[in-house]
Amino acid sequence: MLEPQMTPTVMELLLRACLLLLAALTFVDGSETKLIVREDEDAILPCSLGAADISSRVFDWKKDGRVEVFIYDDGRYYGKGLSGQHEQFRGRVFHFPEQLKGGNASIVIRKSKPADSGTYACIFPHEQPERRAHVELIVGASPEPFITLNKTDDGTLLRCAVRGAFPKPEVVWKDSSGNILPAEEHFTENKGSYDIILEATVTKTDDYRCVSTQQEIHHQIYTETHVNVFKGAAPKPAIAVKETKDGLLLQCEVYGASPKPEVVFQDSSGNILAAEPQVTERGGSYDVILETTVTKSGDYQCVATQKEINHQISTEIHVNVPSGDSDSTPWIVVVGVLVVLLAVAAVIIIKYKKTWKKDKEELQQRKKHEEELQQELNEQKKKHEEDLRQVRLLLEEGKQQKEETA
Ligand SMILES: *[C@@H]1O[C@H](CO)[C@@H](O)[C@H](O)[C@H]1NC(C)=O
Ligand SMILES: *[C@@H]1O[C@H](CO)[C@@H](O)[C@H](O)[C@H]1NC(C)=O
Repeated sequence: MLEPQMTPTVMELLLRACLLLLAALTFVDGSETKLIVREDEDAILPCSLGAADISSRVFDWKKDGRVEVFIYDDGRYYGKGLSGQHEQFRGRVFHFPEQLKGGNASIVIRKSKPADSGTYACIFPHEQPERRAHVELIVGASPEPFITLNKTDDGTLLRCAVRGAFPKPEVVWKDSSGNILPAEEHFTENKGSYDIILEATVTKTDDYRCVSTQQEIHHQIYTETHVNVFKGAAPKPAIAVKETKDGLLLQCEVYGASPKPEVVFQDSSGNILAAEPQVTERGGSYDVILETTVTKSGDYQCVATQKEINHQISTEIHVNVPSGDSDSTPWIVVVGVLVVLLAVAAVIIIKYKKTWKKDKEELQQRKKHEEELQQELNEQKKKHEEDLRQVRLLLEEGKQQKEETA
């Protein structure tokens, strides 16, 4: 090799020297502007040569020291008499012709893209000394964060979305005291800009803020939301019973519920009993007391419902209204009916028993009669047989006598 190899250190030194020179130039000119625009917005890059009329002069806009953005030369420019514009800027960059007389050499880049981000130089090459100004353009500054809320079993899920941001912002959730909340971040990069989604679950009622910060460009933007976190599903209602002259007073108590529960008394058929709840609020949660007087024995329940959180809880109680009341009548009726039924049953049984006995007696009599008859027949038979024997004997005797005489 002919050329001596440059060590990285030498390269670095050279680079630094160049940067210093550039900085010195910028500083000399005193115009270093930082411009932050969102993607698709128009970016006006400012440049001016005092009050001088520049309509017959030359000015040149370059990006990052080499890319040709725009040239104006005495009424001619890219797209009109001049060529050489980088295709990234073709048809997108315009100057302000009517302002040239006032020294205005600004340009506008239409529908800026993150790729347009960079350092632009506005150069007057023929001035003595050469004049230049720099504009740092950043496209894709974080747009306003977009917040959605979702109720979950654990609380409220806060979701913050920052889309099309460049450079990549740091996105955080903060409570009203400025504490950063633990959160889960998902991001995707798309054509040089970032989509960020940050999720946090909160369990307290508060104002929450999603803050998007782009340190590099000193850009910060936030969106705030108020979250009502329901502290408590209603506990099981407590029922107390008191005897009054009008009947039984049932008192149902539900303490420390949030959101405010709807509390009702129901009888065993599900009918809601008339009652006016007394509600007191304590730091966002509710105490409800409900009283009703009942005059009938039976099952009653106190039901607390929180529709917002789909929660319902109840306590059931059986009450016996003291007897002697007109209300005990149904029981008396029931007992009466039972007694009558029993009596009827008894009568039927007795009657049946009687008939049965009679039948049995008749049967026995008939049997006895039959036996007697049989006995009589037997006796007659015996008698007949005896008679027959007698006759036979007589006949035998007669025969013998006949033989003897013969
Ligand atoms: C140049 O003109 C543009 C467009 O009218 C304007 O926005 C800008 O402020 C002007 N710049 C100067 C330095 O006058
Ligand atoms: C809220 O949660 C439900 C159930 O998990 C889900 O289907 C829905 O997409 C969520 N909505 C938002 C905005 O996150």
